[in-house]
Amino acid sequence: MGTLLFVSSSLMGDKSQSRQVAADYIAAARAANPGLTVVERHLTPDNIPHLGMDALAGLGATPDARTPAQAAAVKLADTIIEEVEAADTIVLAVPMYNFSVPSTLKAWLDHVARAGRTFKYTANGPEGQLKNKRVIVVESRGGFYTGDSPAKAMDFQEPYLRAFFGFVGITDVSFVQVEGQAIGPDVAAKGLAAAKSAVTKLAA
Ligand SMILES: Cc1cc2nc3c(=O)[nH]c(=O)nc-3n(C[C@H](O)[C@H](O)[C@H](O)COP(=O)(O)O)c2cc1C
Repeated sequence: MGTLLFVSSSLMGDKSQSRQVAADYIAAARAANPGLTVVERHLTPDNIPHLGMDALAGLGATPDARTPAQAAAVKLADTIIEEVEAADTIVLAVPMYNFSVPSTLKAWLDHVARAGRTFKYTANGPEGQLKNKRVIVVESRGGFYTGDSPAKAMDFQEPYLRAFFGFVGITDVSFVQVEGQAIGPDVAAKGLAAAKSAVTKLAA
């Protein structure tokens, strides 16, 4: 039972390491819970537009006043939020691109953060509206950004995602790193094996 939303964001499609490790997590979660519904959204530059004026103006207009372009932009934006709201677990496969997340994932997150829906401004400050959800992020990197790595301060991937999900109300966020993928075959294989073992434990 329950619903899992799988969002991947690598340009490498199904050859992506982050996507393969995330798929291992989902296979283990399915084995433990055969009734699990899995919804997949594989982001590419062609299927996730930047948040633009059509969406912003369309959201500010009544449905009958929207232009066709605004109506289409609102439909996609609403679908993205509905998928997130319906999910108990959200699994993200996220390669590090230039020290942060792929621009496709940034565009998806820009659709997810909607004032009055996924967060609200109150007298006590912003309040996240996405409750009782768990997020698992599989983040792949060419180098190393954990432990004592001197590159740790250049990791704008994990802190950004932690802050984003906290802002919309999700604090149960687990990160699994697939590191060292650009160092050489042996280091990459070790990093992949460590990540696969970590996700299997998480799903148990
Ligand atoms: C456009 C681009 C930018 C990248 N930037 C970084 C980076 O800033 N730091 C890093 O360690 N690796 C970087 N990499 C390497 C990827 O993070 C690494 O190969 C990762 O394993 C890819 O994951 P994937 O197989 O899921 O696509 C970059 C790769 C690409 C294609």
